[in-house]
Amino acid sequence: MHDLVISNIGLLATATGANAKAGSAQGGITAVENAWISVDGGFITEVGAGSCPSAAETFDAGGRLATPGLVDPHTHLVFGGWREHELAMKLRGVPYLDILAAGGGILSTVTKTRAASERELFDKAAAVLDRMLSLGVTTCEAKSGYGLNFEDELKLLRVVKKLDETQPVDLVSTFMGAHTIPPEYTGDREGYIRLIIEDMIPAAGSGGLAEFCDVFCETGAFTTEESLRILCAGKDAGLAPKCHSDEIDAIGATAMASSAGAVSCEHLIVCDAGGIEAMRKSGTIACCLPATSFYLDAGYAPARDMINAGVPVAFGSDFNPGSCPTNSLQLAMNIGCFKYRMTPEECLTAVTLNAAAAIRRSGSAGTLEPGKDADILIWDAPNIEYMCYRFGDNLVNSVFKKGIKVK
Ligand code: NIG
Ligand code: FE
Repeated sequence: MHDLVISNIGLLATATGANAKAGSAQGGITAVENAWISVDGGFITEVGAGSCPSAAETFDAGGRLATPGLVDPHTHLVFGGWREHELAMKLRGVPYLDILAAGGGILSTVTKTRAASERELFDKAAAVLDRMLSLGVTTCEAKSGYGLNFEDELKLLRVVKKLDETQPVDLVSTFMGAHTIPPEYTGDREGYIRLIIEDMIPAAGSGGLAEFCDVFCETGAFTTEESLRILCAGKDAGLAPKCHSDEIDAIGATAMASSAGAVSCEHLIVCDAGGIEAMRKSGTIACCLPATSFYLDAGYAPARDMINAGVPVAFGSDFNPGSCPTNSLQLAMNIGCFKYRMTPEECLTAVTLNAAAAIRRSGSAGTLEPGKDADILIWDAPNIEYMCYRFGDNLVNSVFKKGIKVK
């Protein structure tokens, strides 16, 4: 007798395996009609078709679509305030980096984040996570990066740890003190970089407060040389490298980060063939952020070229108060179809298995297979084409996290 059986699944659609899928395998979705899933101890124990076994609890999916829970591998989840006042500037055509250079952008969020208490930040992020769960996200990465001093960066990492312990969405923590140079260090970049390398990274690593180290390698933020030093210091402290690369200017960030063994390079809007080849060689996952391109009114990452070159493509929301104030991976899938020209099958792998691999969770999340966590979505949709065809609405009907119905 199983703990739970989800019965009467019209169509079960999932990628398979514990590793990211590249090339034509990215679109290789297994589809099972008239399916059921059994769950024991929070894990998937069997997936079958036809008549289902008995269980202590049965949930009738009503003939709907089932997929794995969505995994968001790139968010800036914890921050104070919002930046709706930048909308008018954006509409007047003021570029993102100009807003930052004028002390707005990331820096204005830093001011509000420093002023907020740990409790306020926790409550605000918990409310966001609850909405993300309703939108189908069952695992989520969260970066620091709006503190930009020792105390406030660690404050953000502690908030993420506490959120992970107290609400259903599994969180994966990334230290990103290298988001931009804070105002106190204008004119002393080296001083801030040393603070990151000598104080913040060792504290994040030894305190078990982060698993990854990310850096915004960009004009107006950190150079490739500075970023490499920071990523190497992260590795020395046990933090795996990630990089915000090729978001705005092509300064060689993707090649730099791949050579440092980056698990993922993220954004990649202006990534060229050299960057794609560097990711292929190092086995780096391309974490594309389609909603950010939309919101910055910028170009789109060459995701199709990446797939053709054999680089696994994941999608993240990039949820943050400036360049992407949405937390909908469903929207990312819509944009992925229309702007990256990816198929619904490729998009589903991008927000499940490949996204899980981008945060080193593909052994436990990202597919509906025995042994994985029972993170299961039931959709108000008959198939995955329908998920990508409808947009601007939330099509999630029910959410199971580790076998518990949470939405
Ligand atoms: O991923 N690019 C850097 N960081 C964020 C934006 C942060 C902000 O504007 O507050 C991003 O786009
Ligand atoms: Fe980002």
